[in-house]
Amino acid sequence: MARSEWLRSLGVEEPLILAPMAGGPSTPELVAAVSNAGGLGSLGAAYQTPEQLTRDIQRTRELTDKPFGVNLFAGGYKVPAQVDAGPMLALLSEVHEAYGLPPPSLPALPSDPFPEQLEAVLEARPAVFSFTFGIPSREVLARLRTRGIASVGTATTLEEARLLVEAGVDAIAAQGAEAGGHRGTFASPFEQALVPILELVAGMVRAVSVPVIASGGLMDGRDMAAAMKAGSSAVQLGTAFLTCPESGASEAYKRAILAAKQDTTVITRAFSGRPARGLANTFTSRLQGQEQLIPPYPLQNALTRAMRTAGAKRGESGFLSLWAGQGVARTRVMPAGELVHLLLEEMRQAQ
Ligand SMILES: Cc1cc2nc3c(=O)[nH]c(=O)nc-3n(C[C@H](O)[C@H](O)[C@H](O)COP(=O)(O)O)c2cc1C
Repeated sequence: MARSEWLRSLGVEEPLILAPMAGGPSTPELVAAVSNAGGLGSLGAAYQTPEQLTRDIQRTRELTDKPFGVNLFAGGYKVPAQVDAGPMLALLSEVHEAYGLPPPSLPALPSDPFPEQLEAVLEARPAVFSFTFGIPSREVLARLRTRGIASVGTATTLEEARLLVEAGVDAIAAQGAEAGGHRGTFASPFEQALVPILELVAGMVRAVSVPVIASGGLMDGRDMAAAMKAGSSAVQLGTAFLTCPESGASEAYKRAILAAKQDTTVITRAFSGRPARGLANTFTSRLQGQEQLIPPYPLQNALTRAMRTAGAKRGESGFLSLWAGQGVARTRVMPAGELVHLLLEEMRQAQ
């Protein structure tokens, strides 16, 4: 099968994928709207319990009979044996006080949720399972295959793409330096894994023989056409869909995205302990130059949760993680189905 035929072979008409966006944005409504318009919607389920994940898949199936994907974090979850979180707790106390929250405390971290989440995915059998932050075991990939679920791994370098292909994935999501959200980097130093998307795709289609999906900073049909010209078999857009009415991003987050008139994104470990690209705000500035205080993922993610939840409730964006790609200033607001049609029309005109 030619690489370009891969998505069609799964019953997806158009080479457009909604990026999975864990933490709220990718609701069943958004996922179904993209799938119903001919693309592939993806549920970002990494922060969900198996029960929540199962419920969201069921809800999505009520809204569409088209294929969609489910995404999890497949690595990078290490509960640190000993970390001095004292300085971070002190820093967060200031914010907690200002927000009227009880002082922050060291959270008890559960074990890696991936194995149980994966069982729920295997049980529900979505058309596609995508993952980031690492590579599941060969056994897991074989079980996915047996259940007829196509697997997509995230790579930020050619080396990571080769490792994923060796492990047996069906396709690769190439995450360019421009991408919003967490960096998927798992086998290269983060600083060396910031390759611009067109360059990354061009290198990857030469390095591996599976389909390559371009993601990072793609905001309109011209960007999509350029990625397809570079050799990608499909494109995956996240930020472009964040402000759709179906997106579950908080109102404060949506307002901040629409207020960005230029690329004001930074790559920061401030919110979760893992490098991620988002709009600079009070909290990222507060931690600039103090990165050594930030404990690793998932501890920092748990430590900042109360602050982020309170910020969203108050409608303030200063202490929220505002994940966004470098194309953020070109965000448009319209229902997701309309956006899919517009993007495809623009892409055809640009080809
Ligand atoms: C809010 C947000 C949340 C994200 N969450 C996930 C996730 O859960 N899993 C994942 O593989 N990628 C995640 N990503 C990264 C996307 O898969 C993709 O690489 C990125 O959105 C592409 O760049 P763009 O936002 O400029 O389109 C997220 C991106 C954003 C913006």
